[in-house]
Amino acid sequence: MKHLVSIDDLTKDEIHEIFVQTKKIKAFPFTYRLNREHTILSNLFYEPSTRTNSSFFTAMTKLGGKVLNINNVNYSSVSKGESLKDTIITMGNYCDVIALRSRTAGDALKASQVSTVPIINAGDGNGEHPTQTLLDLYTIWEKFNRIEDLTVTFVGDIENSRTIHSLDKALTNCNKHYRDTYNEEPWPKSDVYYLTRVQKERGSRGSYTMKKEHTNTMPEESIVLHPFPRNYEIAEWFDTDPRAKYFEQMKNGLYVRMALLIAYTQYK
Ligand code: MLT
Repeated sequence: MKHLVSIDDLTKDEIHEIFVQTKKIKAFPFTYRLNREHTILSNLFYEPSTRTNSSFFTAMTKLGGKVLNINNVNYSSVSKGESLKDTIITMGNYCDVIALRSRTAGDALKASQVSTVPIINAGDGNGEHPTQTLLDLYTIWEKFNRIEDLTVTFVGDIENSRTIHSLDKALTNCNKHYRDTYNEEPWPKSDVYYLTRVQKERGSRGSYTMKKEHTNTMPEESIVLHPFPRNYEIAEWFDTDPRAKYFEQMKNGLYVRMALLIAYTQYK
C-alpha cells in the first residue's frame, strides 16, 4: 500500500502525474464530482489547521466522498490516553484514507507502519509537510512550467518549518539560498521567494518582515510564496503586487488535494 509520509515517497513522474491531474481538475472541477462517491477520508488532526484541514475536507466532499473530521483530538479517545497506534488502527476500520496532522516529527511514519489504509502526512511536527509541497510545486510549475533550473530563496524559519524541509527536498536541481530570521544579508535575485512564519510553538524565536528594499530588487517575473498563516513576514500592502502568489497557492491546495485523494484511493 502506498503512503505519503515524505515528499521522497513520490517519484518525479508521479509528481508530474499529480500536476497533470490537478490542471484538469482546476480547469473543469465539476467533471470530477462523484469521482470518489462512497469513499471516506479521516481528517485526524492533533494540531490546529485552517487550510490543510479545510481543503482536504472540501476536496473529498467535492469528489462525492465523506469526511470523518476529527480536527480536535481532545474530543476523541486521545483525551483518555489512547495511543497513536490504537487510534490509527481504529480509524482504519471506518475510512479509506487518513490525513494525519501530528505534533511530533516521525508520527506519520509510525502511523504508516500500522495502518491498514493509506496515511497522508498532513504535517508532522517540525518534520515534513508533503501535501503542502505538492501545492507549492504546482504553483511554481504553473508559473514557470518547470520545477528545475530555478533560483529559490527560502526565508524565515529554516530550522523548524516543515514546509521548507519538504520543499527543499523536492527542489533538487535548483539554485537554493537560505535566509533565516536573523540573517540580515540581502536576498539574492531569485525566481521564487518562499517565506515562512517563525514557528514559536516549536521553540523558534524572533520575527522579520519583507520590506520595500527586498521587493525593489525582486525580478518582475519572480513569485512570492508563503504557506500561511502569516504573522509579520508579509505586510498586506504587498497582496496586490503581481508577484504575490500566496492566495493562488492556497487555492491550488484544493485542486492538488483532490488529485491526491483520487490517486491514493484508487485501489480501495
Ligand atoms: C504548516 O502546517 O506547517 C503551515 O501551513 C505553515 C505554518 O504553520 O507556518
